[in-house]
This record gives sequence, C-alpha cells and structure tokens, in this order.
Amino acid sequence: MKNFTCAIPTVVHFGEGQIKKLGGEIAARAHKVLVVYGGGSVKRNGVFDAAVSQLKEHGISWAELPGVEPNPRIASVREGVRLCREQGLDGVLALGGGSVIDCAKGVAAGFYYDGDPWDLSAKKLTPKRALPIFTVLTMAATGSEMDGIAVISNPETNEKESFSGPCCYPAVSILDPAYTYSVPASQTAAGTADIMSHTFENYFSPIEDNCLADSLAEAILRSCVRYGPRAIETPDDYEARANLMWNAAWAINGFLHMGKEVAWSVHRMEHELSAFYDVTHGAGLAVLTPNWMRYVLNEKTEARFARYGTAVWGLDPARPRREAAEVAIEKTREFFNSLGLPASLSELGIGPERFREMAQKARNSGFDKTFVPLSVEDIVNIYQMSL
Ligand code: NZQ
Ligand code: ZN
Repeated sequence: MKNFTCAIPTVVHFGEGQIKKLGGEIAARAHKVLVVYGGGSVKRNGVFDAAVSQLKEHGISWAELPGVEPNPRIASVREGVRLCREQGLDGVLALGGGSVIDCAKGVAAGFYYDGDPWDLSAKKLTPKRALPIFTVLTMAATGSEMDGIAVISNPETNEKESFSGPCCYPAVSILDPAYTYSVPASQTAAGTADIMSHTFENYFSPIEDNCLADSLAEAILRSCVRYGPRAIETPDDYEARANLMWNAAWAINGFLHMGKEVAWSVHRMEHELSAFYDVTHGAGLAVLTPNWMRYVLNEKTEARFARYGTAVWGLDPARPRREAAEVAIEKTREFFNSLGLPASLSELGIGPERFREMAQKARNSGFDKTFVPLSVEDIVNIYQMSL
C-alpha cells in the first residue's frame, strides 16, 4: 500500500430532519451567505424554505444565486463571486445536487482568487483559500457533498474541467434522504450509474494490495445494485434513498483510493461528452462503462473482472476466469439498461464527428497510469464501440 494522509474535514449530519442543525452550524462560521440553487426543484420540494427558516432562526442574512445549470457553467460561478464581493458575504450555502455544490465551490474558491475563476479549472490550480461551504444535498450521485472537487463547464470553449483542494471540502453537509424522494427516475438512475462509476474507477486499478478499499468498493456496488432499482420503483423508499445517499459519499470521499495507485479512465472520456454535448453525466457514464470494460478486458485484467463478477453479481467462483469476466461486464450493461439508462451514444444524440477531438482532449489529461493505459486511438475505438 502507498503512503497516504487521511483528512476529510466535512461534518456530515445524516438523516431525516437533520436540517435543524444547519443554522447553528452556519452561524458558527459565517454571518451572511450566498444561497446557491438550481432550476427550482428546491423551491418545489420544500428544501429552500427549510433552509431559509434556519437562516432566519439564527440571524444569518443571505443573497441568492438561482438558476445554476446541470453541468454548471463558469458564468454562474463568476456571478456568484461578484455577488459575494459586492455584498460582503462570508459563506456559501448550496441547496441541490452536484452541479449546485460544484458551482458553490467555484464561488467559494473564486472569491479569494485574484483573476478569472475559470483559471482554477483550466489551469488545474489548487486554491489555497475558500469561503466556508455548506451543503444541503438533494440528489445521490456525485459525492461532491463530501469531497474537495469542483467540476465546471465552459460552453464557449467546449471544456469541462475540475479543480480541487483541501479548502474546497464543504465544512458541513446535511444529508437527508427524504430530500431525494422527488428526484425523477432518470436522475436517480443516472446518479446510481455515477456512484458505481466512481467505485469502478477506484476498484479497477493496476495494483491490488488494499483489501479494505476493494472490499468496501464491492459492498458499495452491491448496495447500488440492490437499492437503485428500489428507489426508482418506490421513490419514497427511505431505506433505498438512504443507502444510495451514503454510498454516493463513500464512493468518492477518498476511502476507496487512499493507499492505492488510482487514475480514472471513464470519467475523463465522459467529461468530453458533457463538454461538447451537455449530456447528463451519469447517462454518459452508463453508455461508456460497459464498452470500456470490454475494451480493456485481456489476460492481465480478466482476474479482476472475474472477482468483480463473483463479489457483485454472485457468479460462481469456480467459473473459468474469462467467461466470468465477460458475464460480469454483460451484467453491468444489462443493469444500466434495466434502470432505463441509454445504451448508446446515438441515444444521447452524439455522432462520430468529434470523436478524435474529444479523445485527444481526454488523453491530454493523462491515461498512462490508468488500469489499462489508453492511447488516443484506443479512446476513439471505445467511443466508436459506444455508438
Ligand atoms: O436544477 P434543479 O431544479 O435543482 O434540478 C436538478 C437538475 O435538473 C434535479 N434535481 C436535483 N435534486 C432534485 C432534483 N429534482 C427533483 N428533486 C430533487 N431532490 O436533477 C438535475 C440534475 O442535477 P445535478 O446537480 O446536475 O446532478 P448531479 O448531482 O448528478 O451533478 C452532476 C454534476 O456534477 C459533476 C458532473 O460532471 C456534473 O457536472 N461531478 C462532480 C463531481 C465532484 N464534485 O466530485 C464528481 C462527479 O464525477 C461529477 O463529474
Ligand atoms: Zn462522476
């Protein structure tokens, strides 16, 4: 195992009704916050009112940044920074899913950055300082509620880039599974695919010497397989929503990669799809993942896929390795399809025209240390297989 530092500073209040802790937590760190939210779901499902009544109760004043887009845009981040500076705000409260939280992180870090906040993403800078970030999560997917990463899009340049740093972890996150009852089936499915993809990215790594991390990853995958369909069938199934919500945080909060040699593959390819075509992140992942798995399956990797098949899909461990690996990959594809996720890029409205350009850009972010190193040609082939 490699050396590592374990430091996850986010205070998580998990469970129904935990919003009652929000006001006190904010009051201990800020006086006047920017409330960031998306296209209006938080106004319809009561999250906005519940959060605002906490602010009032604790004498915290606020300004608002509404309308943050899925795949949040740099223009929203710039606007948030402007509001914080103009109005002397000293904290950022995100009400929503990963897009809203990532935008809030961009604002919080951009506030102290002396330049265009897009630099943080474009130049992959590590911000040194950020305003305190608070989140009320409304969708189980990205894990942004418990990590230090922000993914921001720039539609003018067809770029979607991330930055990260210790100061970008939320100070406090409220995780109330009941707030996810209103998430539509398509987003619940996309979120489940995203959680599974984060887990795959950590699980399929070149060196297998972290038994705890790998076993945790398998448990998260089994849990997604059990609870994803249940949450879609019965949106107010608390147990299903609670498990998905906690899985989402754990899939990316660091425990699955600490001590491991990990470099992500499918996310880099998907971020290009989102950057060029503005597709739903989890839907893009669902299309690419089984094709990436098929592409990287070889004599060296088949044992890992077979282990995945046994641990997650209950395949007989006595089965020939290659056969088990192939069945496991097929089961992954079938599972995503059973959730109603798209199976091909054409279903997402994506043709082959920009495959090479996207592959080149994905490759530039590095594919040398991935589970199987990939060239531009390899990535084009995977896009092609996904058509
Ligand atoms: O905008 P509103 O009206 O709030 O509606 C949202 C949005 O349309 C809706 N929604 C969220 N919670 C809801 C709800 N609708 C009804 N009831 C609720 N309770 O769902 C739609 C999608 O929301 P979004 O925040 O975009 O989804 P998600 O959480 O999947 O976030 C995706 C973004 O996060 C990035 C993705 O690339 C993408 O930009 N990622 C962030 C990561 C991170 N920070 O660590 C890692 C991930 O790999 C990912 O790249
Ligand atoms: Zn993701």
